[in-house]
Amino acid sequence: MAKTKFLLPESAIPERWYNIQADLPNAPQPILHPGTGEPIGPDDLAPLFPMELIGQEVSHDAEIAIPEAIRDVYRLWRPTPLYRAHRLEQALGTKARIFYKYEGVSPAGSHKPNTAVAQAYYVKQEGRTRISTETGAGQWGSALALACRLFELECKVYMVKVSYEQKPYRRSMMQTWGAEVVPSPSEDTQAGRAILEELPDTPGSLGIAISEAVEDAATREDTAYSLGSVLNHVLMHQTVIGQEALAQMEQAGAFPDLIAGCVGGGSNFAGLAFPFVREKIAGREIDILACEPEACPTLTRGPFAYDFGDTSQLTPLVPMHTLGHDFVPAGIHAGGLRYHGVAPLISQLVLDGMVRAEAYPQTEVFASAVQFARSEGIIPAPEAAHAIHGVVRAAAAADEEGREPTILFNLSGHGHFDLSAYDAYFSGKLEDFALPEEEIERALQAIEPLPKPAIRA
Ligand SMILES: Cc1ncc(COP(=O)(O)O)c(C=O)c1O
Repeated sequence: MAKTKFLLPESAIPERWYNIQADLPNAPQPILHPGTGEPIGPDDLAPLFPMELIGQEVSHDAEIAIPEAIRDVYRLWRPTPLYRAHRLEQALGTKARIFYKYEGVSPAGSHKPNTAVAQAYYVKQEGRTRISTETGAGQWGSALALACRLFELECKVYMVKVSYEQKPYRRSMMQTWGAEVVPSPSEDTQAGRAILEELPDTPGSLGIAISEAVEDAATREDTAYSLGSVLNHVLMHQTVIGQEALAQMEQAGAFPDLIAGCVGGGSNFAGLAFPFVREKIAGREIDILACEPEACPTLTRGPFAYDFGDTSQLTPLVPMHTLGHDFVPAGIHAGGLRYHGVAPLISQLVLDGMVRAEAYPQTEVFASAVQFARSEGIIPAPEAAHAIHGVVRAAAAADEEGREPTILFNLSGHGHFDLSAYDAYFSGKLEDFALPEEEIERALQAIEPLPKPAIRA
């Protein structure tokens, strides 16, 4: 019988996170203070983040020990399973060997608790009692609500208004774990009130919600801010995924020729890919593919530039691929991929040719998601379905060229709270949004006055 699941014992939960900053061929450029244009220091970040996380953000140690209290919470769902997708391979009629790492087994249903738990732990350690954050479709908010519950912290979530209205069950989930959830823009912050005055009917955006959550934390001593993606320390916390996958692939007697993951801010992609990028830097040949939506094509069409992380320009300037901080992506169903930027570490790897990117229209993505659900059983989150689609395409291309690659992708979450998107697909109401070049050019005018990163040849 062909083996399907590759499982590890609890004792194999990684003891250290992998910090790719130690190994990057080209170090990322500094994050800048928007007022002075100078690199920011720990003191600039201290009102928002605990010192331990600020230290991790700038650390160049290759490995950072995971405190036992965090590993203890990870035991609730880690190690996560790695599957060989025999049935998908059969359905595709491909000679490629396809494996996936499934992060949907966490209580919140995605990879996001891997960092939420770590962040809540360090906030608690430092003596703060409350965390503020933003959430789009609710995956991140529910992960942080869970983590705050486990470490007895208060949690305030600014949820993008359109999702707040359309996804009541994610909201209920956050409330079950004790979080306070408000639609963003809200009346609770200056940033929210200003936007409501100008645009009372706005559906909100991740950039706006970040402005609110940052302001909340910056104006209260008891509160830290927490971000679910993009930052170096967040990506590092996710590397438990790739470290486990390395051991599981070894169990399977295989090593990937291609690694794929979807990219919103970049955390699940980095989580799986970075431990393999370490192997690539050491000389192994691996093709590493980032999958994004055509409606928000940050890596494939956005320039590498300095930009704000949020709409109201409250955050520092981050060197990254970006579509401009006031770009509001079309209302596609992969809410977690609707962000104007991508993590600096991934942006740098794309710039250096270590990682490549592709963008797909959502109707094709859902066709692959349904094919996956009908063969493997798991109903994927629309975000994760982008990785599935990337793999389906790569397998077809390999068959055409007579190659038989081993492929590994990250199935970052299940889609049980996204069935309205599947409904829209089945009833033919799902639309593709090709993004006109003029709209990108318009949005990028907002970053014209900002400092420019040095582009190395
Ligand atoms: C299941 C799932 N996958 C992927 C993402 C995209 O985020 P990131 O790129 O940080 O992994 C999200 C974001 O909410 C998500 O919920």
